[in-house]
Amino acid sequence: MANITVVGSYVVDLMSRTPHIPSAGETVLGGPFRMGPGGKGGNQAVAAARLGSNVTMLTKVGKDIFGDEAIKNFENEGIETTHISRHPEEVTGTALIAVDDSSENMIVVAPGACGKITKSDVEKAKADFEKADVVLLQLETSMEAVEATVEQAQQLGKTIILNPAPYQEVTAELLSKVTYITPNETEATLLTGVEVNDEASAREAAAILQEKGVQTVIITLGKKGCFIHDGTDEGRFVQAFQVEAVDTTGAGDAFNGAFATFIADGFPLDEAVIRANAVGALSVTKIGTAPAMPYKEDLEQFLSAHK
Ligand code: RIB
Repeated sequence: MANITVVGSYVVDLMSRTPHIPSAGETVLGGPFRMGPGGKGGNQAVAAARLGSNVTMLTKVGKDIFGDEAIKNFENEGIETTHISRHPEEVTGTALIAVDDSSENMIVVAPGACGKITKSDVEKAKADFEKADVVLLQLETSMEAVEATVEQAQQLGKTIILNPAPYQEVTAELLSKVTYITPNETEATLLTGVEVNDEASAREAAAILQEKGVQTVIITLGKKGCFIHDGTDEGRFVQAFQVEAVDTTGAGDAFNGAFATFIADGFPLDEAVIRANAVGALSVTKIGTAPAMPYKEDLEQFLSAHK
């Protein structure tokens, strides 16, 4: 069984459906409302655990009821919680999410406690990093946590997957230590200055990221698919699975948690991406983020039906 250490955010998702995403100054009557576990780090940890990985989650929550619930939720998913610490003053983070009739979303994250993960929190988890086949992180925490994670994982010779979401500026030095980077179109655009919206622009952006020293670049383009560039050729496009989407929130997290699992399990790169695409597709057929992550059996059924 693969061991995956996830360093990232946990926040409570406060989600409302809305006929359309409100523009500045506009109030829209929406609903229904749902509250549940979220945060890119937490969602990715749940995705990996439901696919059978041994997952350790490193994050920070508040000493509040949301923090208690977070730990209970992770335990229910079979995720190791030793490195989930409680901040004495900060509250557990939240995300305000609006999902419109075309199932697109808009999110405002207030990271709260998980924005305060320190270098020392990361160093305390060194023994878990040692056991990990893959270290998976995002950019929804403090840059101190991101840098310490990449530093420690690299020193231990670990495979590092960086999902650069949400976009924050990262140094070229940090990028050069990453094994896989998985930006979506927006993040790839911000990281490279190339407007990414199709295969040709993804190829151009991927080449720039590779020149910066990332070993393998995977640009996710939503329902279109993914562009893979690992330096063996000019890169290649992998089509997404077409499904009826009800909520696309967390699809990137499903992809990343799954991709980490399949790479740790030893799948060849393209196959790991295809399987992760399938997990992303399954996740959009349900409402919510972490709760919408599919289980291993769901994936196997889906793959046999889509041969
Ligand atoms: O990627 C989706 C996630 O982004 C949501 O769960 C929300 O918490 C935000 O962090």
